[in-house]
Amino acid sequence: MCGIIGYIGVKPAFPILLSGLKRMEYRGYDSFGFRVLDSDNEPFFYKKTGKISLAEPELLTMKVKGRVGHAHTRWATHGQVTDCNAHPHLDCKGDISVVHNGIIENYKELREELQREGHKFVSQTDTEVIAHLVEKFFDGNLECAVKKAVGFLRGTYGIVVISKNDPDKLVAARSGSPLLIGVGENEFLVASDPAAVVSSTKKVLYLNEGEVATITPENYFIFTERQPHEIEWSAEDVEKGTYPHFMLKEIMEQPSSLKNSLRGRLIVEEGRAQLGGLKSVEERLRDIDKMYIVACGTARYAGLVAEYMFEEYAGITTKVDAASEFRYRKSTMDRKSAILVVSQSGETADTLAALRDAKSRGILTLGITNVVDSTQARETDAGVYNHAGPEIGVASTKAFTSQLEVLALMALCLGRQRQLSNVMGQRIAAELERMPDLVELALKCAPHVKELAEKYKDSENMIYLGRKYNNPIAMEGALKMKELSYIHAEGVAAGELKHGMIALIENGFPAIAICPSDSVYEKMISNIMELKARGARVLAVATEGNEEIVQIVDDVIYIPKTLEMLTPILSVIPMQLFAYYVAAARGCDVDKPRNLAKSVTVE
Ligand code: F6R
Repeated sequence: MCGIIGYIGVKPAFPILLSGLKRMEYRGYDSFGFRVLDSDNEPFFYKKTGKISLAEPELLTMKVKGRVGHAHTRWATHGQVTDCNAHPHLDCKGDISVVHNGIIENYKELREELQREGHKFVSQTDTEVIAHLVEKFFDGNLECAVKKAVGFLRGTYGIVVISKNDPDKLVAARSGSPLLIGVGENEFLVASDPAAVVSSTKKVLYLNEGEVATITPENYFIFTERQPHEIEWSAEDVEKGTYPHFMLKEIMEQPSSLKNSLRGRLIVEEGRAQLGGLKSVEERLRDIDKMYIVACGTARYAGLVAEYMFEEYAGITTKVDAASEFRYRKSTMDRKSAILVVSQSGETADTLAALRDAKSRGILTLGITNVVDSTQARETDAGVYNHAGPEIGVASTKAFTSQLEVLALMALCLGRQRQLSNVMGQRIAAELERMPDLVELALKCAPHVKELAEKYKDSENMIYLGRKYNNPIAMEGALKMKELSYIHAEGVAAGELKHGMIALIENGFPAIAICPSDSVYEKMISNIMELKARGARVLAVATEGNEEIVQIVDDVIYIPKTLEMLTPILSVIPMQLFAYYVAAARGCDVDKPRNLAKSVTVE
């Protein structure tokens, strides 16, 4: 999705804006732009479609003065991908400029009204109405004009506005789209993503819903006084290092991200998990008998694994829904229900809408997110952070395994509040503690998976199958393959095959079967036989030591043995690597797949 950065301070703004934009490239974009105010000359103004790297040689030759400016990466929603539609957008006189994330739903009415009043529009975007509205209300004080303008907006926005007629300030406002202020030494930044500011400062403060902030070279002012907090990670965490892609780096980082997600949370000898973020609602949690897990994409698949965990170990009826569906459902939640929203970014628009709906009905709201102080973290009653470190690759990998781990910790907490025995609790806790090491072992399959990727890379279709805990992993494996390599892939519950999907199978059709040695292993073998009988080429993910499977399938990837409920954390590793290597072998842009964005902040 779109990225915003603004700068005000003692240094030249342009290099900082440029490096901030580059750090947000991973979010996906199709055009970009800058505007920097210069007290001696006309502002520097540059907008272009395409990749920043292509324009960079030209940009670096430009002499850009000025210590106040803003910049933007656009992911088109309203209006085509053109230079003109890129941000910033200007008012009629070219004094005021706006960068914007989100969607202004009433932009048509506003545009017509402003046009009747004589304003001249040049782009097809919804954003341009904001620049003209600010112009309409501007009488020398930019923050007053912005405050008045946002009162007319319906929809979502995170904006940063500057004006050459009130040049010593940035004005930022948010409703529905995240914005944070980075507090540096003699400088301030405003951004939609902490990655954009982390090389300048680690002190950040997120704007709350509806807040407007004025930032001058000396200070920042928000309606409500609040203290900034420290970002947990460093600038190196948002760099690739020696890896060719962020995605591979993040896959390989999983032993340490999982260790961080577990730190201080297990008491193995007592068979318990302690989740500080849930302490305040411990008593309410004891009373709930229904859990609604609501999320999008990969995070929803983590929820589907948790459905099995919560039902098996805590005896809680659990329902999992896509946030985009849940928000329009007449749900039957009651006071004995809790909603658990799961989101890496904590800013996904549909997930936030579902959360707010549940909250307005007095339901206990819980969250799992990787981003400290994100909107989700601030709006849930209680929750757990992943502490997996920043995830830059658009396709979620280490955040997913961390979500699975945190959900297993939650299952343990909820189970021990109910019927789960001390002995079983100890087994789960001990196995969870081993997870980072087991993942380290699972990652050793990488060279073998790379070879297999060469064999399968020219496929047009693939089918992924699994049962029980690994049914969601089949869906996640297929999603990874689709989004990265653009190969059509479907994940199915293996038992559903013969209810339709098997009609697709013919000689050589690639099928990826996740069949660890668990309670449904034999059922999976029967499904594999059905596929083999119809000529499918089967690649199986199996448990180390299983020799039988080699006689049945075409290719095998082994994973270490673990408790059934935790196998997804291991079985997804080869799925991530397989999608990565197939996509890389097909020459795809692995970190920035087409049409996708890292954080989906619009409905
Ligand atoms: C797929 C992927 C997406 C996200 C989804 C939710 O690899 O990353 O499906 O999982 O967009 O994002 P968050 O977790 O930020 O709410």
